[in-house]
Amino acid sequence: MSTFQAPKGTYDLTPPRSATFLAVREAISAPLRDSGYGYIETPGFENVELFARGVGESTDIVTKEMYTLTTKGGDQLALRPEGTASVLRAALEANLHKAGNLPVKLWYSGSYYRYERPQAGRYRHFSQVGAEAIGTEDPALDAELIILADQAYRSLGLRRFRILLNSLGDKECRPVYREALQTFLRDLDLDEETRRRIEINPLRVLDDKRADVQKQLTDAPKLRDYLCDACKAYHEEVRALLTAAGVAFEDDEKLVRGLDYYTRTTFEFVHDGLGSQSAVGGGGRYDGLSEMIGGPELPSVGWALGVDRTVLALEAESVELDLPATTSVYAVPLGEEARRVLFGVVTELRRAGIAADFAFGGRGLKGAMKSANRSGARYTLVAGERDLAEGVVQLKDMESGEQSAVPPAEAAAELAKRLG
Ligand code: HAM
Repeated sequence: MSTFQAPKGTYDLTPPRSATFLAVREAISAPLRDSGYGYIETPGFENVELFARGVGESTDIVTKEMYTLTTKGGDQLALRPEGTASVLRAALEANLHKAGNLPVKLWYSGSYYRYERPQAGRYRHFSQVGAEAIGTEDPALDAELIILADQAYRSLGLRRFRILLNSLGDKECRPVYREALQTFLRDLDLDEETRRRIEINPLRVLDDKRADVQKQLTDAPKLRDYLCDACKAYHEEVRALLTAAGVAFEDDEKLVRGLDYYTRTTFEFVHDGLGSQSAVGGGGRYDGLSEMIGGPELPSVGWALGVDRTVLALEAESVELDLPATTSVYAVPLGEEARRVLFGVVTELRRAGIAADFAFGGRGLKGAMKSANRSGARYTLVAGERDLAEGVVQLKDMESGEQSAVPPAEAAAELAKRLG
């Protein structure tokens, strides 16, 4: 151990567990890549104002959880706490929405930062794979995204997740509901902070986890009863498309989400094996975000799935991903001459696209064979002085134990043939 440790709320990804993270990112992005989503990468930090305006001045993310800094040049920056505002900013900046092909469909994968109280499944540095479909209002687009996330989780072998679905209304009906809710909440017996929340973000009060608060909320006005006809019809269509696709969901009118930009469709993926941090992913429609950050009207929808929590969900379900061994051939040289010869064969194998590794450091046969076993290689190549004197190297099939002698110059071709 060194003098230093990973900062509080963070952890390192190291082999072999890190391979699962790569596989999860791959599995989540594969359905997106097959559905017309192009890859986008944005900086790890942005102007702090982007998130203040985009994610919302009243959210915990902006008021409590952002890592902010002032540069030597005086710029106010924030490590990104989420991806949507950045991706939309980048799409607008590159004029992707003007290329005439709406929606602009993008996917991303990266690190995000929130100064939260660390606990199992909640970290200060975490990883998301996300998707945003920008510039189109179409219930089929909302359905597409939910279906693709469902497909991704299923392809990983996850079963114990549920999809929660809600509609938050739009700029016509939500303000009316908001006012009705505020009027109701102001009459309740609540602490000072919650009272403040009523004025800034009353919908979040519905999310309060405390039993004494929840008890008072039973008769709170329901957003469902305030949705305008357009929002209702839109929501019904999303539900019908999901049902037709065989994707099960639960209507959850308490689902508010922790970011302010949502309109209409909102959803969350929760996993029942994760305790309190059960949301493995979430998203929704954000029809007003573009205008909030100074862009044109661009109704959009997206989601982000948490890679860390997806890995925890796999572990909770004891799902072992079928990760192919990364090394196909492991070479074990015994002596100087063998090292030169086998290193040459390994280089040749690699250039031919065959994954190969080598026992470095001139170790003895026993230790090197242990490494060969651990590597999961299907074949080992062993050569000592006597083999070389006879003009061969020993090729061992690690499954059958069978061994055959081949000339070094033919070893790579022979292995290529056997490995198909
Ligand atoms: P979010 O719900 O804040 O949404 O985050 C999405 C997912 O990221 C969560 O469901 C969770 O799995 C993971 N996550 C969030 N915070 C943490 C944390 N502290 N530790 C570990 N995992 C975490 C968004 O970020 C939106 N940008 C999603 C979206 C995209 N909406 C529209 N487009």
